Amino acid sequence: MIKLIGVYKEYPRSGLALKNVSFHLRKGEFAFLTGPSGAGKSTILRLIHMAERPTEGEVRVSGFSSAHLRRREVPRLRRRVGMVFQSFRLLRDRTAAENLAFALEVTGARQNEIKAKVQRLLAQVGLAAKAGAFPDELSGGEQQRVAMARALIHDPVVLLADEPMGNLDERAARGIFELTRDINSSGTAVLMATHDLDLVRHFPQYRVIELAEGAVVYDSGIGEDASEADGAS
Ligand SMILES: Nc1ncnc2c1ncn2[C@@H]1O[C@H](COP(=O)(O)OP(=O)(O)O)[C@@H](O)[C@H]1O
Ligand SMILES: [Mg+2]
Repeated sequence: MIKLIGVYKEYPRSGLALKNVSFHLRKGEFAFLTGPSGAGKSTILRLIHMAERPTEGEVRVSGFSSAHLRRREVPRLRRRVGMVFQSFRLLRDRTAAENLAFALEVTGARQNEIKAKVQRLLAQVGLAAKAGAFPDELSGGEQQRVAMARALIHDPVVLLADEPMGNLDERAARGIFELTRDINSSGTAVLMATHDLDLVRHFPQYRVIELAEGAVVYDSGIGEDASEADGAS
């Protein structure tokens, strides 16, 4: 479903951020992407989101390929791929509900459709009562819930989460982690970048892909799909 094949990424001044990275994230899978700061975690997520293109190699996402993707196809790809960040990235001058509605309005959805979907998503992330609150009126954990709801708005096949608990206290972090597990249970694949090794050790049932200096140094899921046909879509 998501496949990186021999991916290299070079940034103009900082050199090689990724060196020959290959892995296959299957439909509905949950995987941690770990490694120290600077290892290349965020770069991998941006490549899957097609905010960056590989210098060499290929990234395939749900039938799209970095090798052939046209600029006008990017919005369609992005609907298959939800993304959340450590810093939430909400629109500060819009309420929780408006942050979600905005993501649907740009697709031309009808108002009553938008309203129903926004309500359903806010309820799903436990924030039905805060629909009218602005980001500054919400705790960090609540802001991340809004960001997660926004990431799910187009029913993506995968949720990419870049250190989503990095700005949260322990209790809020646990809530957000449980929410990602719920999201995964309902069928959405999750790829979570984190440098929190305690968290990773705590959930040995989940796959771990570990990076060091831009290369995969460990992948607990390797070999599991050796007999599988090409699952690019
Ligand atoms: N936009 C960029 N321009 C130049 N270098 C970058 C950029 N983004 C990341 N890098 C470099 O690529 C490497 C990997 O960074 P990153 O993917 O952010 O790692 P991580 O998320 O694991 O901390 C680092 O050396 C970083 O300095
Ligand atoms: Mg990062």
